[in-house]
Amino acid sequence: MALRPVSQKLWRVLGTGVRSCSSGAPVTQPRPGESSQPAVEDLSRRKQSLREQSAPFSTFLTDSFGRQHSYLRISLTEKCNLRCQYCMPEEGVPLTPKADLLTTEEVLALARLFVKEGVDKIRLTGGEPLIRPDVVDIVAQLHRLEGLRTIGVTTNGINLARLLPPLQKAGLNAINISLDTLVPAKFEFIVRRRGFHKVMEGIHKAIELGYSPVKVNCVVMRGLNEDELLDFVALTEGLPLDIRFIEYMPFDGNRWNFKKMVSYKEMLDTVQQRWPELEKLPEEESSTAKAFKIPGFQGQISFITSMSEHFCGTCNRLRITADGNLKVCLFGSSEVSLRDLLRTGATEEELLRIIGAAVGRKKRQHAGMFNISQMKNRPMILIGG
Ligand SMILES: C[S@@+](CC[C@H](N)C(=O)[O-])C[C@H]1O[C@@H](n2cnc3c(N)ncnc32)[C@H](O)[C@@H]1O
Ligand code: SF4
Repeated sequence: MALRPVSQKLWRVLGTGVRSCSSGAPVTQPRPGESSQPAVEDLSRRKQSLREQSAPFSTFLTDSFGRQHSYLRISLTEKCNLRCQYCMPEEGVPLTPKADLLTTEEVLALARLFVKEGVDKIRLTGGEPLIRPDVVDIVAQLHRLEGLRTIGVTTNGINLARLLPPLQKAGLNAINISLDTLVPAKFEFIVRRRGFHKVMEGIHKAIELGYSPVKVNCVVMRGLNEDELLDFVALTEGLPLDIRFIEYMPFDGNRWNFKKMVSYKEMLDTVQQRWPELEKLPEEESSTAKAFKIPGFQGQISFITSMSEHFCGTCNRLRITADGNLKVCLFGSSEVSLRDLLRTGATEEELLRIIGAAVGRKKRQHAGMFNISQMKNRPMILIGG
């Protein structure tokens, strides 16, 4: 596999690109004030028991509830060309200095390590991933990783029509495009920028290039766009879209409140009143979406019910932020810097121990929407949704 020249330190974690499962003895990091010994024993027992069940999956990426994390989201940038109200605080966010962001080499080194351990799906996100100048190159390099089956991107669609052909050629095989309104003036209000027609152009380009379904992410907010639910559903009649209605989630600086959130049940009820024949589709393993289809329509709709009916029990996702922190839960503030480990020359084994310990500490489920709304977390734009 041809890679760009990399530093000595990074070679240690690049490996061969051939997928294998690790069986190294796990070590955990104590929390402040805790002795490490019981935690080490506990983790060892857990990993031992998982091995005995002969799960053909990395013990490091398997948490204490048996959840196997085969899906990694990597944020490629903290920057964005839009300013969505629900994601970006009005006053903006303090950006991490460039030197502290993951380099392309580091992104690829981490991706390779996770894929070796069993990750088979990587989604590139941000900020807006398509403003990163080398995004096509990154996709091409990921495409060479043996065992990686899905490379996806979540984008606001502004640069998509132009970039999708080279991205597809490079190996991009899944796409989510964010669009919260079908009314151009409202678009400008929600995202605080222009660009509605570019996003629509991007959606049509994705259809034209054969992505099916083209997933459209729509964050539903009361008083803003909940009156457009049926218009969005109607789009699926003639287009192979999967319109994903997302419950509005609380993050730092987004002024979330319960009254602005439109719940899954309420959305479903609205759609069923208009289309009583709406059919539930079988749930895919580890999917966050509850999918439905109106018979005869080309596309489908889904609901992402993170707030009203969480799906933590089947969560298989891990996240790496643009500044290189591993985040095991979208709604948890605990993070561990993989960037610092890489830069201090950690071996693959050392990295895996730290990753395994962080995954091992993942909680059974998030704290519930009211607690989350009070908790300290990053703004969504600095996490990577
Ligand atoms: C943070 S964005 C990053 C990728 C890209 N810039 C985009 O907008 O698609 C990823 C996804 O998170 C969603 N998102 C952001 N803030 C949210 C919130 N408060 N509640 C629910 N979804 C949110 C966006 O709608 C988008 O679909
Ligand atoms: S949702 Fe995406 S497009 Fe909107 S501000 Fe956040 S990162 Fe940017």
